[in-house]
Amino acid sequence: IVDVKGGPNEGLDRVGLMIVVAGWVRTLRAQSSVTFIEVNDGSCLSNMQCVMTSDAEGYDQVKSGLITTGASIWIQGNVVPSQGSKQKVELKVNKIVLVGKSDPSYPIQKKRVSREFLRTKAHLRPRTNTFGAVARVRNALAYATHKFFQENGFIWISSPIITASDCEGAGEQFCVTTLIPSSREAAESPVDAIPKTKDGLIDWSQDFFEKPAFLTVSGQLNAETYATALSNVYTFGPTFRAENSNTSRHLAEFWMIEPELAFADLKDDMACATAYLQLYSCMQVRYILDNCKEDMDFFNTWIEKGIIDRLSTVAERDFVQLSYTDAIELLIKAKKKFEFLVKWGCDLQSEHERYLTEEAFGGCPVIVSDYPKEIKAFYMRQNDDGRTVAAMDMLVPRIGELIGGSQREERLEYLEGRLDELKLNRDSYWWYLDLRHYGSVPHAGFGLGFERLVQFATGVENIRDAIPFPRTPGSVEF
Ligand code: 4AD
Ligand code: MG
Repeated sequence: IVDVKGGPNEGLDRVGLMIVVAGWVRTLRAQSSVTFIEVNDGSCLSNMQCVMTSDAEGYDQVKSGLITTGASIWIQGNVVPSQGSKQKVELKVNKIVLVGKSDPSYPIQKKRVSREFLRTKAHLRPRTNTFGAVARVRNALAYATHKFFQENGFIWISSPIITASDCEGAGEQFCVTTLIPSSREAAESPVDAIPKTKDGLIDWSQDFFEKPAFLTVSGQLNAETYATALSNVYTFGPTFRAENSNTSRHLAEFWMIEPELAFADLKDDMACATAYLQLYSCMQVRYILDNCKEDMDFFNTWIEKGIIDRLSTVAERDFVQLSYTDAIELLIKAKKKFEFLVKWGCDLQSEHERYLTEEAFGGCPVIVSDYPKEIKAFYMRQNDDGRTVAAMDMLVPRIGELIGGSQREERLEYLEGRLDELKLNRDSYWWYLDLRHYGSVPHAGFGLGFERLVQFATGVENIRDAIPFPRTPGSVEF
């Protein structure tokens, strides 16, 4: 359908062509002498209106009521100018084939259904306008991300999903264990097949890796090893957090983009994040506007009015940059009733982040730097003041924290000292520490939550609608 209707004159240059459309019926309207079928094949938001009279091959299947909303069909016909006002062209059908029937219980009918309801039908929701559009824009953003880094000399690294170390040191990892093949069949429940000691604890020595293993919370530590060999690298893959956060911006499984720059400090890191987002906003929003125009117009009308203007604004303005200490002062001066008390040393909550970017700086992205070391991860480089670290978070309107990054501690003695202070086991990080023995360099990087970017670019309010199959506390299906 996009090949026919996606051009500048919405298909008029395709008039006269005979084409085949394979897709799913959105609606079917039978009148006395003609039947109209709206078909969508997911290539774009637009349906193809197919007009059929009784002389079309296969018409009996339409007449007998076999073809209904949700059915998959194959249609051959000629592109003709449309009589209707909604589209420039339509298909005059020669032949229709029913590929798969749809039961009358098909839940995605024409009437608008709520997002909450659709989350319970995650296997069918990509057939709606909203989720089809989100999937296409998400795809365009992934493509544009690789394009940005590839064009700027970064090398893409695959970081492991199963890992033994906790990058953030926050203990929010999912544990990976094994179902022993011998006991698998005998076991009544999968849990019975996990190797256990006499006391009923997991017997790690019998487990697949012979020690505890986890799903990664971030690919950063692994990316650092490649950055200290290949210079600028990035990862782009799934990450996992067992955070019990039931909010509209947290997932248990989310995708992260993590560039890591060698011979670089915090300023370089901020410049890279800004270039990414601004380029994303000019070139990359340009990219999605050019490549997903119809989908973006849809979001602009139905999901967040004015989103295209908002994104263009981001592209044009210089991002605000201020220290954590200044941000705290500003928040205290705001004399606003925040739910969480603001004082130096506190972690910024999303209400504070949103105040900064939305109210204090009128919708401009804000980079906050140099946070207290107590609220940040062990690997961040300590500043000379002894109480802050070279960290930066980028905050954007509606979302709050989109990016978290830092300059890394490249000095062995500081890094070891920090691990000890936080009571993290040096042995689990031996290889990470080892890097500091051999040609250590100043380096920095950041992580960008891809679903938050999708939220930012499409206006969808809940992060559960920015990923095809959301995983949140108490919910794993599909
Ligand atoms: O700030 P975070 O925890 O930073 C790191 O993981 C670093 N190791 C990244 C690095 O420097 N390479 O996470 C980075 C970003 C956040 O700013 C946020 O956008 C996203 O990942 N994020 C989440 N997105 C969805 N659901 C969650 N539970 C998320 N936690 C973090
Ligand atoms: Mg963070």
